[in-house]
Amino acid sequence: MPDKITLHDLNALREQGQPITMITAYDYPSALLVDAAGIEMILVGDSLGMVVHGFTTTLPVTLDMMILHSQAVMRAVEHAYVVGDMPFGTYQISIEEAKRSAVRFVAEAGVDAVKLEGGETMAETVRAIVSMGVAVQGHIGLTPQSVGAFGGMKVQGKDIDRARQLVRDAIALEESGAFSMVLEAVPARLADLITRTVSIPTIGIGAGAGCSGQVLVMHDVLNLFDRFTPKFVKKYANVSAVMTDAFAQYRDDVRGGQFPAAEHTFSIHDDVMETLEVGR
Ligand code: KIV
Repeated sequence: MPDKITLHDLNALREQGQPITMITAYDYPSALLVDAAGIEMILVGDSLGMVVHGFTTTLPVTLDMMILHSQAVMRAVEHAYVVGDMPFGTYQISIEEAKRSAVRFVAEAGVDAVKLEGGETMAETVRAIVSMGVAVQGHIGLTPQSVGAFGGMKVQGKDIDRARQLVRDAIALEESGAFSMVLEAVPARLADLITRTVSIPTIGIGAGAGCSGQVLVMHDVLNLFDRFTPKFVKKYANVSAVMTDAFAQYRDDVRGGQFPAAEHTFSIHDDVMETLEVGR
């Protein structure tokens, strides 16, 4: 197993053309497994609002929630580079507030970096956070915190004006000191062009194979969340089926008297029981 992954390692992977792997994790046991699998980056994404807490969007997620989940992840991780997602409303109102939120995230959760959504319009905010010594990952394309403004979860950058804007957004993020950026729901050829234009790692989700790396939401990969499955998701296991089956077997065992069996039961000395029975 490699030592703790650093920004230097991530850049080296990009330069060697070796794809970087990233996946979300929100709790201690799943972060242990991701780390053991040798995934280079973990995102404690605000997607936890939907896949863990059952909200219909990421908007109700608070910084306190993100910090609590990130603390659990950080207790598990030895190798992966961990990015904490700044939730809606914690960095858009003012640069001062963005700096305060980033400081809390790093000081209280110990994440290696923070992520925020937006390109050109967030450049000054990114610069201000980076100037405090906090690494920032950008996120452009489909940015779920602006889902209301986009009118739904749609692929971004398909016409010339929006495609140009995405290229400008990517350049602005790099120039403001972001160490990397997520490209979400962007046509593959545009994501490839952006990846060749900037000299920091691009991490794609629904952005094709030309990015420097890929990220997916854990609950999508495991088929643990089926309310909404975007086209770009590949499911690598059917954990929902495994869990439902285990719960049903447990229910049947309890009802049928097969559980608990002798090996799950604690014993007590006969004399103790006899004395107890006599004394009653
Ligand atoms: O919150 C999240 O999980 C994300 C990914 C979709 C990149 O931002």
